[in-house]
Amino acid sequence: MIDADAFYKRARILLEQRLTEYRLLHSFSVADTAIAMAVHYDVNVDDARIAGLLHDWDKNLSDDELIARAQDFGIELLPRLEDMAALLHAQTGAVAVAREFPELPPQIIQAIRRHTSAAPDMSDLDMIIYIADMIEPLRSQGNLTSLRMLVGKIPLEMLFVKSFEMTMEHLIKRHRFIHPESLEVWNTYVARERGRLSI
Ligand SMILES: [Fe+2]
Ligand SMILES: [Fe+2]
Repeated sequence: MIDADAFYKRARILLEQRLTEYRLLHSFSVADTAIAMAVHYDVNVDDARIAGLLHDWDKNLSDDELIARAQDFGIELLPRLEDMAALLHAQTGAVAVAREFPELPPQIIQAIRRHTSAAPDMSDLDMIIYIADMIEPLRSQGNLTSLRMLVGKIPLEMLFVKSFEMTMEHLIKRHRFIHPESLEVWNTYVARERGRLSI
C-alpha cells in the first residue's frame, strides 16, 4: 500500500524535469479528469490520479530516443516509422515508470501502456485514462464537448467506444496509419456492443 499523497508529490517533482510546461499541465489535467471520472464510475481514485499524472512520462523524448529506449526495453518496433513515436511513448513510458517506481501496482502500469493504442480487454482504469487523456479541459477540439457531457451519464464502456470511434475517425480523416491492434480493439468492442443489443 503506497501513501498516495506523498507519492504524488514526489512524482510531480520528477515529472517537472521530464516534460515541457504544456505537457506537464496536460498531465495534471488528465489526473484531475481521471479523478472525477473515477468517482463517477466507482474506480480507485488514487490509481486514477497516479496513472493520469504519469501517463505521458516519455512523451517529450525525441523519436530517436524513443526508438533507442524501445530497443533497450525489448519492445517490438512498428513497420511505419512516421507514426511510431506517438504510439511508442506509452509502451516505453509504462516500462520506465515501472522501473522508476517499483512500488506501483500493475494496474497503473497497464493503464499507462494502453493509453494510446487501447486493448481488446480494457479495465475500467484503462478506459478512464484513455478517455481522460482525450477530454481533459486543456484539449481544445470542439467536438470533445459532447464526450465531456456524457461522463457519468452513460456506462463507461459506452463512453470508451465513443472516444475510440472519434480517434479512429481522426486517423482515417488524416490518412494516418492505424495499428493492427487498434483494429482488433474496434472489432472486439463492436462485437460486444452487438451482442448486448441482440439480447
Ligand atoms: Fe500520451
Ligand atoms: Fe496525454
